[in-house]
Amino acid sequence: MKGIFISFEGIDGCGKTTQIELAATYLKKKSLEFVITREPGGCRISEQIRTILLDAENMAMRPKTEALLYAASRIQHLDEQILPALLEGKIVLCDRFLDSSEAYQGYGRKLGSGYIRGINAYALEHMPDLTFYFRCSPKQSRVRMGPRQTDRLEQENIDFFERVCEGYEQIASRDKERIFCIDATANIEKIAEQVQRHIQNRLSKEE
Ligand code: TYD
Repeated sequence: MKGIFISFEGIDGCGKTTQIELAATYLKKKSLEFVITREPGGCRISEQIRTILLDAENMAMRPKTEALLYAASRIQHLDEQILPALLEGKIVLCDRFLDSSEAYQGYGRKLGSGYIRGINAYALEHMPDLTFYFRCSPKQSRVRMGPRQTDRLEQENIDFFERVCEGYEQIASRDKERIFCIDATANIEKIAEQVQRHIQNRLSKEE
């Protein structure tokens, strides 16, 4: 695979979307080819699955249904968008990937890492080269999100998000080579500089 696959992780309101945009500005300045994409979503079919997943009316959705829909969305997205872009040598900036399922469904919904990794076996074969985890407590993220309208997952209680954070910590401690933990409460420009430094290091390795 010629390109570089980079994912951005963290709980809702951690500021990852802003950081993806800043990373894109940095890559543009360096005249590097990249694509920005997101999970769930990123292509037509996966965006349709996203609508079902985030619909605040779908409160009857079972945890396993939820986990399987995220996995289905991911398989389509990976095959249709991410892998072709990487084959063309592009840098892929992806807002969430498999770590989100492990943190949210594995820990948040208590389905366990084994179950999530099992149903996501195809994604496990194509993990990101680099992942940024924006660390932020559920309380801090609530303050940041403010009174915006919440989707189905954002309506979960603070205990759910505490478990999601615990999940991210476990995942990050297991995979220190790939995942860089960043203090999401730091100054936006400082965070962007850290992200750029890690991307630059990765690019130098490829040369
Ligand atoms: P995201 O697009 O980051 O939400 P927003 O744009 O509102 O910040 O992600 C959508 C939601 O889906 C988010 O609450 C996290 C959740 N999610 C999972 O629970 N499992 C997953 O595998 C993925 C990719 C996302």
